[in-house]
Amino acid sequence: MSEIKVNQVEVLRGALRVPGDKSASHRALLISALSDGMNRICGLSNGDDVIRTMKIVEQLGAQVLRTDEMVVVTGPKDGLRQSGDPLDCGNSGTAMRLLIGLLSGVRGNHLIVGDESLSKRPMRRVIEPLASMGAAIEAREGEHAPIRVAGGSQLSGIDYEVPTPSAQVKSAVLLAGLFATGPTVVTERIRTRANTEDMLALAGVEVESVDEGLGRRVTLKPGRPQAREWQIPGDPSQAAFFAVLGAVHPNASIGVVNVLTEAERVGYVQVLQRMGALVSIETRPSGNALRVRSSKLHATEVYSSEIPSVDEVPVLAVAAAAATGVTAFIDMGELRIKESDRFAGSMHIASALGCEVWAEGDNFFIQGLGSAEHFKNFAINAGLDHRIVMAAATAATAGNGGRINNWETVESSYPNFFQDLSSIQ
Ligand code: S3P
Repeated sequence: MSEIKVNQVEVLRGALRVPGDKSASHRALLISALSDGMNRICGLSNGDDVIRTMKIVEQLGAQVLRTDEMVVVTGPKDGLRQSGDPLDCGNSGTAMRLLIGLLSGVRGNHLIVGDESLSKRPMRRVIEPLASMGAAIEAREGEHAPIRVAGGSQLSGIDYEVPTPSAQVKSAVLLAGLFATGPTVVTERIRTRANTEDMLALAGVEVESVDEGLGRRVTLKPGRPQAREWQIPGDPSQAAFFAVLGAVHPNASIGVVNVLTEAERVGYVQVLQRMGALVSIETRPSGNALRVRSSKLHATEVYSSEIPSVDEVPVLAVAAAAATGVTAFIDMGELRIKESDRFAGSMHIASALGCEVWAEGDNFFIQGLGSAEHFKNFAINAGLDHRIVMAAATAATAGNGGRINNWETVESSYPNFFQDLSSIQ
């Protein structure tokens, strides 16, 4: 276990780029591997999660070439095939859940494994709908990795309503649907990130999305994606750390250039604006940018439905800690089953900074300190959770420093995070 000491910084100025969107990166690799031909992917995330998916598609028979500018993935003519070795997803829930769906349609016996954190995360949510399509999947206690998929049996399309909003569940069912005998319909009550359906449509698969109230209904016809070129913009969930940093720091003006600004991903910007943050998204032909300046924040109510997947909550807890008043985080149960228990982790960061925090069922509350200048110097263990590392580093940089144990886990999504943080100091 190693520790990093993060110091408070007087002034923050400048612009930076975050890694390519992690969700789009996984999908670009998987969809390319399924195609019959050569795909060029520009802007792929360099995080370990995505590198795992890249190695896995190679193990399954796709050809992968990396240059400085792009990654070239050629899908095998006869389709993907079984690997002789386990498919190791490392820390990545997205890789594991999407692969369970995709491999349900690929002939062979596939063994999917993950690290200690991933081996504790729930997989029944994808196994159940896939089993009802006819997939043969075995998991430890029906729930956990290692996962065995006996792929290639006849799958039938289903009409499935995702019980808890999840882009990963939606995507696993849609990817299996590519191999089914008839159409697959997935309905979600709250719209989650749409990378899978949008990117499959770009690759020529017949897929239609219709908004229904706050939700969406996606209908997909089986088919093989066509090879193409993918351009991946920066990851808005990584830009969120800099958005909060700029807002809570007493002397900051920062930009994050070329960021994906899909509505389902930038709900946190609206939350911050509601808190009084001077943060905005600039729309530009060269790629959208996020701008933020030092701000006085006040408390708000944050609902999981406005930030589906709740990835930005740990860093919004830092914003809440700097605000005046009590910020309420409502309906945050999903946080408990991420790379770590982020429900406890988000509260823990705020409490380490000196805030009073409490929970009621799936809601938690943070009594803000009114300014990051009142943050305590702190020490925290990030476990195997990259977003806890970055949220804690944000608090330390804006406040009064801190120490983070297990900081290397930041590698899973943002290997250059600390260099990028230094670049604006
Ligand atoms: C992701 C979906 C989200 C999110 C994760 C990436 C994806 O999880 O937390 O970081 O790429 O589909 P859920 O789908 O479980 O909400």
